[in-house]
Amino acid sequence: MAAVSVADEVSGGTFLTPIYDRVKQQREFDETKAGVKGLIDAGLDKVPRIFIHPPEILHDLPYHLGSIQSHHQTQMTIPVIDLNLEEGTFDFKFNGNPTESLTRSKEIVDQIRRASETYGFFQVVNHGIPVKLLEEMLEGVRRFNEQDTEVKKQFYTREIIGKKVVYISNLHLFKSPAADWRDTFFFPMAPQPLDPQELPLVCRDIMFEYSKQARSLGITLFELLSEALGLNPKHLVDMGCAEGSSLVCNYYPACPEPELTIGTSKHADIDFFTILLQDNVGGLQVLLQNQWVDVSPIPGALIINIGDLLQLVSNDRFKSIEHRVIAHKGVTRVSAGCFFTTGVQPSTRVFGPIKELLSIDKPPIYRETTVKDYITHFSSKGLDGTSPLPHFKL
Ligand code: OGA
Ligand code: NI
Repeated sequence: MAAVSVADEVSGGTFLTPIYDRVKQQREFDETKAGVKGLIDAGLDKVPRIFIHPPEILHDLPYHLGSIQSHHQTQMTIPVIDLNLEEGTFDFKFNGNPTESLTRSKEIVDQIRRASETYGFFQVVNHGIPVKLLEEMLEGVRRFNEQDTEVKKQFYTREIIGKKVVYISNLHLFKSPAADWRDTFFFPMAPQPLDPQELPLVCRDIMFEYSKQARSLGITLFELLSEALGLNPKHLVDMGCAEGSSLVCNYYPACPEPELTIGTSKHADIDFFTILLQDNVGGLQVLLQNQWVDVSPIPGALIINIGDLLQLVSNDRFKSIEHRVIAHKGVTRVSAGCFFTTGVQPSTRVFGPIKELLSIDKPPIYRETTVKDYITHFSSKGLDGTSPLPHFKL
């Protein structure tokens, strides 16, 4: 292994270097059905070659001296917005003075507008989901991944259509230039109601409860985002943007050589928006003005990020921003994202730029598409880290 440099690997090897059977290694890894965690459990102390990313990506990691972030220390931070929501009800806290309450919610809408237009990312506090529930949810993600491997393997599958619960490491293993250092477990929550009996026993109750609360918060956020676009609060929900959602739980095992791989490769989310819960380890970064900006963990906060579909329907008012997760040595990270999209599920509903946002000065930038067609294009163009959005431009 050590005889061949990373550069050789990236070019697929040459006649002068030993041939490395990439597909065989990918297949062997996949067949363990034990994910990246399985490698660590087996005592591995090197990152296998299929996980080693190309030099241009590695040079851009904070571990590398020449990375853009060590050149320019950025002052940018992701905004934190106080939603002032009542726990469990997702209504604005009402302190006895209706005028004051209205003014406050207008301020919140303004903050959401600015954050969605400028950063595409913001964190929210006082979002209505009890902090204890967030902590238990993160524990649940850990428990699923750290349970008996034989039980966990039963959920391992690459055939995701129609599946209730999927456990997988690197969904696009055979298509991506390099594998990411993460294991994933996901399930759809809507439009088909989630049957708790389908969920793994070790985390069933908490996943079910968190899914319900994250969805309710999501509906409130769709209302605030509609208002932030100057629309009726129900506009985005009435268009069908909230029809589908899935919960995607990530487990990033401690990595022996974090300078050679990445937890989640650079990407933008292909949904309407995502509610992301991260633990206190850190590593999530957002690409703003060509600089990687940390989304620093705030206990009890949730991260909201605009996805491609909301950028499309808002006709580029709101931005879907690229982000990544760097790997860490000696510490395991967990996160859970609630993605608002119907994903690959068949649907005839089409989405295009919202008519109310168009004018002579602001003509439509995108053509209409179904969510499924959007994702099909994303998967078929190869996972090269580029956005599928330009393909849908008029
Ligand atoms: C994602 C993602 C970030 C994280 O799953 O799309 O960006 O912190 N996850 O796990
Ligand atoms: Ni993402």
